[in-house]
Amino acid sequence: STIYRQGALGRRPAVPADFAELERRAERASSAKAWAYVAGGAGEGRTMRRNRAAFERWAIMPRMLSGHVERDLSVELPGGRHDTPVLLAPVGAGALMGADSDLKIARAAAATGTAYVFSNQGCNPMEDCATAMGDVSRWFQLYWSKDEQLVDSLIARAEAAGAAALVVTLDTTVLGWRPQDLNLGSLPFSRGQGIAQYTSDPRFREIVAGRPPQPAAEVTLGAIRTLLAMTRNHPGGFWSNLRSPAPRAAVETFLDIYSNPGLSWEHLATLRGRTRLPIVLKGILHPDDARRAFDAGVDAIVVSNHGGRQIDNAVASLDALVTIRAALGPSPALLLDSGVRTGADVFTALALGANAVLLGRPYMYGLAIAGQSGVEDVIRNVIAELELTMALAGVPDIASINRDCLVEA
Ligand code: FNR
Repeated sequence: STIYRQGALGRRPAVPADFAELERRAERASSAKAWAYVAGGAGEGRTMRRNRAAFERWAIMPRMLSGHVERDLSVELPGGRHDTPVLLAPVGAGALMGADSDLKIARAAAATGTAYVFSNQGCNPMEDCATAMGDVSRWFQLYWSKDEQLVDSLIARAEAAGAAALVVTLDTTVLGWRPQDLNLGSLPFSRGQGIAQYTSDPRFREIVAGRPPQPAAEVTLGAIRTLLAMTRNHPGGFWSNLRSPAPRAAVETFLDIYSNPGLSWEHLATLRGRTRLPIVLKGILHPDDARRAFDAGVDAIVVSNHGGRQIDNAVASLDALVTIRAALGPSPALLLDSGVRTGADVFTALALGANAVLLGRPYMYGLAIAGQSGVEDVIRNVIAELELTMALAGVPDIASINRDCLVEA
């Protein structure tokens, strides 16, 4: 209701309140390459569409005369209590959307009290984002590198930066088939954009320094451009970053080692002894994988198909959530992402058994349109709609949002 009142008083929102217009405006505000990468999906886009279609198969069944005036949106998750059941998903390659994207997102998360999962592929070092967030909750998302010392270095940094949980993304051991990017010849990072999360890492620098030097003939105008693109966002700009690893070597190293295609349950088994943080596995869809994860001692999973960016024609996240919740029972902490667009979607996911959800593209669209305030408005709009939906459906708190609130549509 605060948002309505502000509207009535003439405050113009930074971003459209409906997702369709948000998306249109974000596309207009983005370069073709940035748009292909951020909005695009795998293959023919079937997983992305299925993520949305899954929400249409459920309808909210409201109850009247509940008498509740106050609502409590807070939830308990591994790592602590959150004001709302909405987190910002880890999104890499933020530099495509302009300088210091991750810092702007971190500030918006802090301003709205929303937890933010720092991406391993961040364009700002996690330490800077953590500083911007004060005591608002942040998690760190890890891509398991081929270099085990780099894994430990990133975990140590996350702990020092006050991360409340460690998210290990499992579904991106190789990058999906992304025709929009391929058609434009613009796979992310290929020009070295925004890998400050790596270039600020002592172990990563060590690896780069230890690799054979590039032949002199390779130091071309293109390499200098890459250096500029990579370092634009650092404090001190270009010159201070001449001390950084040579950009070409850094980018090639990054592409070589950022993920381990051979990642297995054996790797995972070593993790408990390597961090004191709660462990969250992101990208699980099969109930047997979910069961095995909890048997292995993880604290939560994110049921996710990476926003439809990895496998084309994969199962919808929301459908997988239903299956996993049915297989595992009420206790394990299940988060969901992929296709959540509105407060009503959040309500539906919670009713189907999610403890919380993550937003990906919606807040990136807010960022594209209006920077930090765009991200803030997207978050506030989703939360406001969730709260109104709870009010109108007759539920006072998150725990009361359950399967009885829905019917099959
Ligand atoms: C992502 N996602 C992602 N996930 C992750 O674990 N690490 C990462 O670095 C990234 N990078 C990334 C970049 C971009 C541009 C997008 C759109 C997504 C996936 C992300 O965390 C989340 O799973 C999806 O975005 C959720 O789906 P929606 O909300 O975008 O539909």
